[in-house]
Amino acid sequence: MTGVSSRAPYIPAPLSVVHAALRAAWVTPCDIVYDLGSGDGRVVVIAARDYCVRKAVGVEIDPVLVEVARAYARIYGVADRVEIIEGDFMEISLEDATLVYIYLYKSINEVLRPKLEAELQPGARVVTVDFPVPGWVPIYVKRLRDEADILRSVHVYIIGISDRHWSTRYAEITSTRELEAWLACSRKCGQRH
Ligand SMILES: C[S@@+](CC[C@H](N)C(=O)[O-])C[C@H]1O[C@@H](n2cnc3c(N)ncnc32)[C@H](O)[C@@H]1O
Repeated sequence: MTGVSSRAPYIPAPLSVVHAALRAAWVTPCDIVYDLGSGDGRVVVIAARDYCVRKAVGVEIDPVLVEVARAYARIYGVADRVEIIEGDFMEISLEDATLVYIYLYKSINEVLRPKLEAELQPGARVVTVDFPVPGWVPIYVKRLRDEADILRSVHVYIIGISDRHWSTRYAEITSTRELEAWLACSRKCGQRH
């Protein structure tokens, strides 16, 4: 269990913001999506139901919200592709994630950053709601007004490009082959829609 610095309260993202975040990050049926701090499971259920992702994993520390999210996954018929892990996201491996959604505080994004850099593959995307990842350069920022007319923002990052160890990570990739493979995969999946 991590300390207070990686805890954030439960504040569900408006549905318009969830859709905007997933679309801004070019979600495709090839994706394995993680929501770190998944609350009532709305993000993973929407990712599975509306964007047909391969797998959607929510990680949530509150056991009541874990049960709510599992119930939503069953009700919306996506329990076969939605997994809700009860626990601290700092202790969960992210190695198979291709898209990570985060709606937490900026200070928590900062604590998470080294974990994301260490565990995500080059080409994986990270999308944050309202709060950027300090030290990273977004490749896309979308601003929108939610259902309550409140101004919200979505920041999209690509591992290997946005993170601050850009030159080292680029050397690891050796070419843009992984990124090209990912783009080809998205194009192929996009055609199936
Ligand atoms: C702002 S809410 C976001 C909920 C959902 N992702 C959404 O966008 O609607 C943050 C959630 O993260 C959970 N959380 C906070 N710290 C956590 C941690 N270290 N590990 C797992 N879940 C955590 C909280 O219980 C809460 O449900």
